[in-house]
Amino acid sequence: MDYAQKVAVVTGASSGIGYVTARAFAERGSIVVGVARREGLLQKLAEECRTHSPASGYLAGDLGDREFAERVIGDTVQRHGRVDFLVNNAAISKHKQFYHMTADEAEYVMRVNFLSCVWTTMAAIPHMLRQGGGSIVNISSFAAKVSPPRETMYAASKAAMNAFSEGLWNDLAGSNIHVSVINPGPIDTEIWLKEDEPVAYHGPKYPPEIVTDAIFEAIEKRRHEFTVPRRNPQLVMARFLRLFFPSVLRYGIARMEPVPGEIVDRARARAARGKRLGELDEG
Ligand SMILES: NC(=O)c1ccc[n+]([C@@H]2O[C@H](COP(=O)([O-])OP(=O)(O)OC[C@H]3O[C@@H](n4cnc5c(N)ncnc54)[C@H](OP(=O)(O)O)[C@@H]3O)[C@@H](O)[C@H]2O)c1
Repeated sequence: MDYAQKVAVVTGASSGIGYVTARAFAERGSIVVGVARREGLLQKLAEECRTHSPASGYLAGDLGDREFAERVIGDTVQRHGRVDFLVNNAAISKHKQFYHMTADEAEYVMRVNFLSCVWTTMAAIPHMLRQGGGSIVNISSFAAKVSPPRETMYAASKAAMNAFSEGLWNDLAGSNIHVSVINPGPIDTEIWLKEDEPVAYHGPKYPPEIVTDAIFEAIEKRRHEFTVPRRNPQLVMARFLRLFFPSVLRYGIARMEPVPGEIVDRARARAARGKRLGELDEG
């Protein structure tokens, strides 16, 4: 695969997997357009990318806004003439009890994690068709396969992304636009520091580079789906149980991370006072 002078849009490029991936595209000679909200971090990324690929840059904005998500592709093509690689990686996790989630928060998770990927993809396809092909890589999560406790909306957004990616793979057959989806397990990034409520998981976390490697393998070998790490015994066991004994898996997860009785009692008391989900004031 020749990456030189190709154009790569990487969303969620201000930190973690997106940052490492954007840099890796630049190291291979691609022009990188990094996308996220924190402009200072994107500037730093762009400076690093420019040492390998001088035309690289960034676009700062909120991908939960459809107009911005579409503009990411429009501005990229206007500036660089093409878009060869689209890595839809931006996401938020919203780890919290579902009783504590507002409808606005639920909608925002879907907009950032799932719909932004639909919007950028729809904007990119005509350009990829015109230029003869391209690669779209969607960064999902193992949560799309096994829904972790307190991550209901996150898991739903990622499951939607997987279904979208599979459907797209079918629908784009014959177009030379390849679609992949990567399901990372626990990766050592700052996403774990941004959780709304404490996380019970304290097991091993893997470096973001394993996801970046999977992205390039997916592009180069035209593979559709990867779960990384590939041989983590817990993930393998969870997949096995999810496929063949889903109720055993559900009961096991509920026992490992039960919902505290006082959380349910408080939610019930708020409901008795006519509160909606997420209205946590005790008055
Ligand atoms: N780390 C893990 O254990 C793990 C496991 C499974 C899947 N994943 C997936 O891997 C991807 C990357 O996550 P990460 O671990 O690298 O976490 P991260 O460091 O928190 O990266 C998330 C990126 O998304 C961007 N982002 C969030 N909301 C955005 C918005 N509204 N508009 C634009 N950009 C937004 C963030 O930048 P700004 O805040 O600057 O906007 C950041 O660059 C995500 O899709 C995540 O779901 C991660």
